[in-house]
Parts: sequence; C-alpha cells; structure tokens
Amino acid sequence: MESPAQDSTAELTVGQLSARSGVAVSALHFYERKGLIRSHRTGGNQRRYDRSELRRVAIVRAAQRAGVSLATVAEAFAELPADGVPEKADWQRLSARWRSELDARIEALQKLRGDLGGCIGCGCLSLADCGFVNPNDAQGSAGPGARAFDAM
Ligand code: FES
Repeated sequence: MESPAQDSTAELTVGQLSARSGVAVSALHFYERKGLIRSHRTGGNQRRYDRSELRRVAIVRAAQRAGVSLATVAEAFAELPADGVPEKADWQRLSARWRSELDARIEALQKLRGDLGGCIGCGCLSLADCGFVNPNDAQGSAGPGARAFDAM
C-alpha cells in the first residue's frame, strides 16, 4: 500500500505541505488566513490541502522574493479560473506583470540612491537644499512655513 506521501493523488496534511514546499506550518496557516491557499476539513476536523496548493505556495514565495505584497498576490489569485489552480500561462502572465512592477521599483530606488548620494558627507538635512529630505521641493509647494516630515 502506498503511503500518502507517495500517492500522487492524495491530499496533503499541513505538515506534508510544509515539507514539500519548504514553508513553515505557521506561514502556511498565515497564507490560508489571507486567502492565498485553501484547505478543507476532514471528519476529524483536520485540514487537508489539495496537491495543487503547492503551486499556489510556490507562486506566493516567488512573488514575495520579488517584493510583491501578499494583497497583490491575493488579487491575482482572485482572477484565476473557478478551480483556482494556477496554470503555466497564469504564472507567465503574473510574472510578467510583477516584473514590470519590480522594474518600476528598481528605477525609483535608483533615483532615491542618486538623491542620497548628495547627502553623503553633508548632513544638512535642509528642506531647502536636500533633495533626499524634500524631493522636488514638495514641502515648498505646500506653502510657506514649517511642514511636517510625515506629510511628505
Ligand atoms: S543632507 Fe545635505 S543635501 Fe542631503
């Protein structure tokens, strides 16, 4: 008789899903609370996961590596077909979208790094002169007088 770990059609316990995905059980429960993965309960009230949840976990992990928020992943999963199982084409579409977002973040970070470059060895933190503290003089355009930093 085949054990559940060897049976390719068997559903997975949370421990098996953790072992197969390399994701901690606590993280899997967190993903489930966020609606990123799904389970059902056995008669004994134990969680069971369809094997396809491994694909969803893999996508969540890949998205996290790219800095994509879990909320964004959840929105993407909501667009999946009724069975909610991401196919190769789904991953291709999502990864292309997230690559564009990653490119935009890299560009913004490079600009931020450039702004910070002028501060090295300066230390003035001037609202009038420091492009890092007051990018594009955003505080000046808000009117005269002192401005709160958290308004930036
Ligand atoms: S600290 Fe002086 S320019 Fe930023």
